Amino acid sequence: AKKIILDTDPGIDDTMAILFAEAHPDIDLIGITTVYGNATIDNGMHNALYLKQRFSMEALVAKGTDKPLIRDPVGATVVVHGEAGLGDVTAPHSLDTKAIEKPAHQFIIDSVRANPGEITLVAVGPLTNLALALKAAPDIVDLVKEVVVMGGAFGENDHRGNVTPFAEANIHDDPHAADKVFTASWPVVIIGLDVTEESFFTSEYLDELRDDAGEVGQFIWDISRYYLKFYSEKVGMDGCHVHDPSAIAYVIQPSLFKTRRGPIRVVTDGPAEGMTIQKVDQRNYMNDEWRLFPAQQVGVEVDNKTLLSLYRETL
Ligand code: BDR
Ligand code: CA
Repeated sequence: AKKIILDTDPGIDDTMAILFAEAHPDIDLIGITTVYGNATIDNGMHNALYLKQRFSMEALVAKGTDKPLIRDPVGATVVVHGEAGLGDVTAPHSLDTKAIEKPAHQFIIDSVRANPGEITLVAVGPLTNLALALKAAPDIVDLVKEVVVMGGAFGENDHRGNVTPFAEANIHDDPHAADKVFTASWPVVIIGLDVTEESFFTSEYLDELRDDAGEVGQFIWDISRYYLKFYSEKVGMDGCHVHDPSAIAYVIQPSLFKTRRGPIRVVTDGPAEGMTIQKVDQRNYMNDEWRLFPAQQVGVEVDNKTLLSLYRETL
């Protein structure tokens, strides 16, 4: 099985991704590292520990950072994910599970060094923990198997942003961290809005999951009530996009996605703050610092039908 560390801001679709990774036999979820984003770091942490306890997960849980590298924090997205991150579901106040002592970025560094070439980092929240790991231990770029990121939007299928017209939430939350992660010389695959907004969990699909997937199906249904309300009121959809679970789907079955290659940068301030851009043309420019950066992959097409049945069969 593929060893992964899932860096996450749980989060409704984050929870859908965690339970997917936990359920699939080809994935060995060795760690969950948390980051601020959909919820505050404390609420996100509590949610991760609750999932570990409730679903008897072996993954170690490590607490990450509570704020972006440079920019001012955007704040928890209560309108999308609810007061504490799981919609109308509240985790019990006291839990029997605990986080490990080390901070998230140190857990990432130590795990990657102990398993050279074996660990895939899957990041489905703001990229601050990964940037901190890179800064403290630049050697990990040669030791990580792959970095799979849910974030960004590259204009394919007219998808450009969700929190601003030109920025996706995870990247907008910490554009400086994202730019560090994308320009580092480790292999990155981005599963952004270009593909995640092409897959839909309709309310009917979620009802079927509740009926067919036991306790996990019921739990996903319960947390998704709030999310669906947001989607119907603010996006005008009867269902939701498949953001974070799509990154896990890529790890399980990369052939579900078509990708394109080229170096990637992030706009760190100004009117397009948080916008992700990729150079794909082969022209020569007088002034081209882009050639200094590694080519990374961006998902541009998805077989959403197969993805939806993979998710359902796994759970
Ligand atoms: C991303 O932002 C968060 O709200 C979701 O959990 C997902 O990771 C989508 O833009
Ligand atoms: Ca997320």
